[in-house]
Amino acid sequence: MATKLNEKSIYASAIDGHVYKVFPNDLNAHGTAFGGMIMAKCDRLSLVVAERHSGSVCVTASVDSIHFMAPAKENDTLLFKVSVNRAWRSSMEVGVRVEAENSYSGESKHILSAYFTFVALDETNAPTSVPSVIVESAMQTRRFEQAQIRRQARLNTVEALKKYDEP
Ligand SMILES: CC(C)(COP(=O)(O)OP(=O)(O)OC[C@H]1O[C@@H](n2cnc3c(N)ncnc32)[C@H](O)[C@@H]1OP(=O)(O)O)[C@@H](O)C(=O)NCCC(=O)NCCS
Repeated sequence: MATKLNEKSIYASAIDGHVYKVFPNDLNAHGTAFGGMIMAKCDRLSLVVAERHSGSVCVTASVDSIHFMAPAKENDTLLFKVSVNRAWRSSMEVGVRVEAENSYSGESKHILSAYFTFVALDETNAPTSVPSVIVESAMQTRRFEQAQIRRQARLNTVEALKKYDEP
């Protein structure tokens, strides 16, 4: 099926299964994988997805709803799944799911979900328009619809907090 230039398949930019082996230097004082290391990887991978989708330089505008569900341990293999959930005018929500796999037993657990908002910039560093996403599965439809609810909550929060801004 022909696609319009201003629409792009979610699959075209997605990262499905980037792996990272947890070594001792990745651990916190508690002996589990350091959350900041995992968050930095999520930001970097989701930037790649946003730039692939938009074809532009992107910046992280906000990060919300980072949920750590379970710890990862030394020797686990982290699996990152990253895709664009929805695109608006110049911004995109990128969702990240991280699983920790025990490569010896094959057991895997969901350890993190997060949502990053990126804004595409033009050569003058002004926000520039991005392609819409083409939704092609039930899961993508669910994520697409949920992304709009999160965007509205983000914009509502920004608006509600404006009255507390320093003059
Ligand atoms: C992100 C940034 C470009 C937005 O600039 P701005 O002047 O607010 O631009 P606009 O008001 O035109 O908004 C542009 C888009 O950003 C979105 N946006 C702005 N602030 C946002 C926030 N805090 N959270 C989510 N989206 C946001 C707007 O909703 C709009 O989306 P849309 O075009 O899809 O409707 C600007 O705030 C910025 O440069 N921030 C610093 C980014 C940075 O340094 N990141 C860390 C290193 S990568």
